[in-house]
Amino acid sequence: MDHFHYRDRELYCEDLPARDLAERFGTPLYVYSTAALVGRLKELQTAFAELDPLVCYSVKANSNLGILKLMAEHGSGFDVVSGGELHRVTTAGGEAAKSVFAGVGKTDEEIRDALRAGVLLFNVESEAELDAIDAVARAEGVKAPIALRVNPDVDPKTHRYISTGKKESKFGMDIDRALRAADRVRSMEGLAMTGLHMHIGSQITSTEPYARASAKAAELIGQLRDMGHEIRWCNMGGGFGIDYRGGESKPLAAFAEVMVPVLKPTGCRLAMEPGRSIAGNAGILLSRVIYTKQSGDKRFVIQDAAMNDLIRPALYEGFHRIWPVQVPEGLPTWPESFEAAIPGTEPRDIVGPVCESGDFLAQDRPLPPVDRGDLLAVFSAGAYGMVMASNYNTRPRAAEILVSGSDARLVRRRETLDDLIGPEMVALEA
Ligand code: LLP
Repeated sequence: MDHFHYRDRELYCEDLPARDLAERFGTPLYVYSTAALVGRLKELQTAFAELDPLVCYSVKANSNLGILKLMAEHGSGFDVVSGGELHRVTTAGGEAAKSVFAGVGKTDEEIRDALRAGVLLFNVESEAELDAIDAVARAEGVKAPIALRVNPDVDPKTHRYISTGKKESKFGMDIDRALRAADRVRSMEGLAMTGLHMHIGSQITSTEPYARASAKAAELIGQLRDMGHEIRWCNMGGGFGIDYRGGESKPLAAFAEVMVPVLKPTGCRLAMEPGRSIAGNAGILLSRVIYTKQSGDKRFVIQDAAMNDLIRPALYEGFHRIWPVQVPEGLPTWPESFEAAIPGTEPRDIVGPVCESGDFLAQDRPLPPVDRGDLLAVFSAGAYGMVMASNYNTRPRAAEILVSGSDARLVRRRETLDDLIGPEMVALEA
């Protein structure tokens, strides 16, 4: 969290006090650090340099146009899973030629548009999809560049909702099926198989699943080449875990250490699809306390960020560190653990205004006494935060800003109530 740090007990993003940002742009507010985003991209490019990597930033993690533009400016490619995400990429100045297109349900229209845009690779998830891409490509008079998404049947030991590389997952094909499909591809005129794709899951904090998946990839690449396919790309997906609690993640270099020696002999260029590891710790969510209350023994802090702004705690029991923007005297500015008891704090439920018991950002979390108007920071909220936000309870979605040094730029204005009801106004027409 280098780029979010405390000075004199006040939280800063780069050179700007979070309190000033909240006042200027309102709350709830997503705040992203340019230095953190670019720093992580460079770290990945460097760690895997030996494999001439193409980092395809996974748009689903945070698809804000400001972030996509920044990534494109620093040489990133993109991993997209819909025509909508590809539209964002090209609008923000990203190159389709550096973009890979995944997803189990690509429509003919999306396939055609992606072909016309000139994507680098379609990550193909089923035999039926091979037929669809082949047909669209032949109708367009081109050959579609494809990579089969293979399920290496490796357990990434992460939350079951974000585990994808097991045999029983809806993604990709198991190895036997993939080999049979690869055999068929040889006679499909609309397809050119130039890559192999794997993605085993998300928030993976151990290097071992990557070591096993890489070994399987290297072996498969040999088999595909024996069939006559000119495999130039090995795409190992995303999934590198980050620190949510503190200390659980591995440095990116540790993943490279187990993957590079196995993949290097293939001679392939490495493509990768990191989302969380770039954006996760490059963003925080700022909120303001509306009320505090007690019910039985429970102490509640009701603040203006809710499950509609950040659904990870409700959906995956996701843990986010939460701490005051201005830390009272006598408390650590950055506790070693945010779970163990901290002197001067009491366990509190940090909840939002949404009418659901599942509307919490944290439960029984040590927090010092706070008052109406105080600001809280929810850390590690840069990935799968705003992208999963909704308008539930007719709550306008938060504003997003991108900080660079002492400059803060609005990259998404706060929604208005008219933004929300606009598409429904047809209902009231005579
Ligand atoms: N590539 C593919 C094919 C994926 O399915 C994903 C994520 C990624 C790359 C990027 O993975 P990352 O590097 O960000 O781990 N909403 C959940 C995470 C869902 C991940 C979906 N796929 C969460 O909030 O934890």
